[in-house]
Amino acid sequence: MKILVTGGAGFIGSHLLQLLGRQKNVEVVVYDNLTSGRREHVPEGVRLLEGDVRDKALARLFLQEHFEAVIHLAAQTMVPYSLQHPDEDCSVNLLGLLNVLECCRQGGVKNVVFSSSAAVYGDNLNIPLQEEERLLPTSAYGITKMTSEHYLRMYHDLYGLNTTVLRFANVYGERQGAGGEGGVVSIFCKLLAAGQGVTVFGNGEQTRDFVYAGDIAEALWRGCQLAGHHVINVSTQKETSVNTLLAAFKRAVGRDFPVHYGPVREGDIFRSVLSNSRCRELLGFCPAMNLQEGVARTYAEELRTSGAV
Ligand SMILES: NC(=O)c1ccc[n+]([C@@H]2O[C@H](COP(=O)([O-])OP(=O)(O)OC[C@H]3O[C@@H](n4cnc5c(N)ncnc54)[C@H](O)[C@@H]3O)[C@@H](O)[C@H]2O)c1
Repeated sequence: MKILVTGGAGFIGSHLLQLLGRQKNVEVVVYDNLTSGRREHVPEGVRLLEGDVRDKALARLFLQEHFEAVIHLAAQTMVPYSLQHPDEDCSVNLLGLLNVLECCRQGGVKNVVFSSSAAVYGDNLNIPLQEEERLLPTSAYGITKMTSEHYLRMYHDLYGLNTTVLRFANVYGERQGAGGEGGVVSIFCKLLAAGQGVTVFGNGEQTRDFVYAGDIAEALWRGCQLAGHHVINVSTQKETSVNTLLAAFKRAVGRDFPVHYGPVREGDIFRSVLSNSRCRELLGFCPAMNLQEGVARTYAEELRTSGAV
């Protein structure tokens, strides 16, 4: 199978490329403009083509390469940035997606897998959130992800593309930048590796559903093999408080560190957990990385790359 991964030089892309590298008979091409992605995330032997997903010349690549599947990760991923620059967020996330979908349609691609987000739900306490819940995003980023999902459904209904929408919970793992979505693990890692303390907004009892990037990679790969149109949460369905996360960090770091509790940030959601029953049913697996192990791996990699050890 020949697969194009847009945004493959990014954080989640780096985990996906490792997983795809272990599959038999899979050829991968990465298309990325390297705004937040890094060349070194792309393993040797995988072709990296530098370019913007909005570039109309992308159509030529599809006609030459005959991709069977496309995993679309390229995006503007920062929620606060999406509020400051909603036009840029809309341009990359919607015009970029539409260009890729048109290339898929004209290039005979069979499967498209799209990286959506829990941000489409907005602040909804009916947890664990099921995929049928109403969508009321509270950011421009959430709106472009929600709208993207409709385009994918439309390309399935009108043109017969198999389209799988994966809504990720809070993703964490090695190589995550501090800027994008769900960055608390990455932010803590960077501060702690530099020997500093951390700040928690609120009393630390706010919860998130922390899902390991290696599990996200597994879901993306399995999503390439689904027929039809599907919308699937990818989550642990476990509600973890920031205080529990801090306890995992204390064990991983092996020492106590200062924790400063500051005021709650305006707009922050208090509880967030996604149901994963559809993931188990349709993708045949459930994200299983234990939080302690995932935090330990992520912290160890941060120490290694920051030169702290
Ligand atoms: N990390 C999370 O917690 C999370 C949660 C939900 C959804 N997602 C989604 O998963 C996908 C991957 O996110 P990530 O965390 O790996 O972020 P990332 O920023 O590390 O990766 C995004 C990649 O897209 C590339 N890119 C950005 N704009 C581009 C453009 N115009 N043309 C071509 N390439 C472009 C970047 O260089 C980068 O390599 C994104 O669509 C993001 O919205 C991430």
